[in-house]
Amino acid sequence: MGEYRNIVVLTGAGISAESGLKTFRDNNGLWEKHRVEEVATPEAFEANPTLVYQFYNQRRAQLKDSAITPNPAHLALADLEKAWKGSFLLVTQNVDDLHQRSGSVNVVPMHGQLNQARCLNSGNVSDISGVGVIDARTLCSCCNPQSAMRPDIVWFGEIPQQMGRIEQALSQADIFVSIGTSGQVYPAAGFAALASEKGAHTVELNLEQTSGSFHQGFYGPASDIVPEFVARLLGDK
Ligand code: APR
Repeated sequence: MGEYRNIVVLTGAGISAESGLKTFRDNNGLWEKHRVEEVATPEAFEANPTLVYQFYNQRRAQLKDSAITPNPAHLALADLEKAWKGSFLLVTQNVDDLHQRSGSVNVVPMHGQLNQARCLNSGNVSDISGVGVIDARTLCSCCNPQSAMRPDIVWFGEIPQQMGRIEQALSQADIFVSIGTSGQVYPAAGFAALASEKGAHTVELNLEQTSGSFHQGFYGPASDIVPEFVARLLGDK
């Protein structure tokens, strides 16, 4: 597989499942216990901010659990980036910090990050990894008078972050690899088609085949198949 120069990798909740974080749409997934309309839309935040803050505070608290660490799939992608000779972009729909913790550098967290909050007045983003919980009384340090903040999460109905950078990388990609995502949520669900139209080879790595259209697929737990795929891509196998 040594013929590829520019790569875009897209990850979803499935890559973090074996680290102990729940996915959304699998059995026992997050959307079985919570209603999207109550915790993950701008309207929900207007109607009941307390519930929305609570949902994200709980998920952020999980990241501090010492048992939640990057798994071999995250680590393999960090190794891939280090060894890759052409351009490399890792786009993740995940709001955890497991890619960053494993050493990946060119990461676009297109749906935001649990460890960041956004000022409701200026839009400035600040790191809240050291803050216990945030709620309507947590104020920014960028405005005078200080303003309340919201989770830096892209909710349903909002536009994902850094779309220009992502689309440019997709249009130049020779290979596009989708890992651990059900492909139910746009715009990420359209990335494979976009890359393929521009000539990229598209590959899916997942526990099971999704309804998306890919040139090639590898199926099994991410912590097994991602390191194997990376080794193959780097020509070690
Ligand atoms: N290894 C590989 N793949 C796995 C594993 C695993 N151990 N466990 C689950 N998967 C796969 C599932 O088969 C499924 O296709 O991961 C996918 C998870 O799908 P979703 O739960 O829909 O998560 P995701 O695709 O990331 O969701 C996209 O939806 O709710 C929003 O904003 C949220 O970013 C999220 C977006």
